[in-house]
Amino acid sequence: MEHAQPYSAMDIQKKRKKLTETPKTEIITTADGSSSLYLPQWDETYHSRHGAIQEAYHVFIKNGLDNVCKNHPKAKTLHILEMGFGTGLNALVTMLESEKHAQRLSYVAVEAFPVSAAIANQLNYGQQLAQPLAALSFQKIHDSSWNEKHPLNPTFSLQKLQMYFEDVDFEAHFHLIYFDAFAARVQPELWTEVIFEKMYKTLKPGGVLVTYAAKGDVRRAMQKVGFQTEKLPGPPGKREMLRATKTQP
Ligand SMILES: C[S@@+](CC[C@H](N)C(=O)[O-])C[C@H]1O[C@@H](n2cnc3c(N)ncnc32)[C@H](O)[C@@H]1O
Repeated sequence: MEHAQPYSAMDIQKKRKKLTETPKTEIITTADGSSSLYLPQWDETYHSRHGAIQEAYHVFIKNGLDNVCKNHPKAKTLHILEMGFGTGLNALVTMLESEKHAQRLSYVAVEAFPVSAAIANQLNYGQQLAQPLAALSFQKIHDSSWNEKHPLNPTFSLQKLQMYFEDVDFEAHFHLIYFDAFAARVQPELWTEVIFEKMYKTLKPGGVLVTYAAKGDVRRAMQKVGFQTEKLPGPPGKREMLRATKTQP
């Protein structure tokens, strides 16, 4: 359903109460053989059922990181913000990609409800990615304490921030945002002008936000706050995804 009015800060405060603790999850295997988590309470998954790893590479690496590296060749460090750290899969594939790039990657991930170590240890990304450093890198990502910055290799640092999306308040700091909230069907309050305004402010001019979502009301909320949006072919099982660029300061 489309909302005639954007949510107010008070609406968000009320809706935030929908999720107040780490939800109960079940481990599932997606179509490319990689793990994901399923929330029975919302019939929602952390990744596409058509392939968690395929989705991470398509949406966030190919259409996000690769694009930003190409457009900012002179930046020594690229600053990336992830909205929704979840299982740490996006952080892992980005850390593995950092080995291939000359630029350093500084990765900040926001998450209100961290997944437990017991669950993280059962996810199969280390094996599925079939890269020598994958399992060790995933371990390092999960062993990193919250809220502090950790240099995990010479080209990749990680800071996991335990906080609500609604409280993010950076200014013109990031080149790239991975916007990976649960779908608008279950958390509509995270796909609003109020949130995208924060995302716009957070980006440097020329910075981009990528997301797996492609719904018209999400795209229009992005455009209302100033983003220029592109519909791109989606990952397996999805026709389209969105990339939004901050063209003005
Ligand atoms: C789709 S999952 C993220 C998947 C993740 N990027 C990965 O690679 O596994 C969405 C995440 O947003 C988190 N989340 C939900 N509501 C939130 C909120 N209001 N503030 C911060 N995090 C929230 C959930 O706990 C969940 O981990």
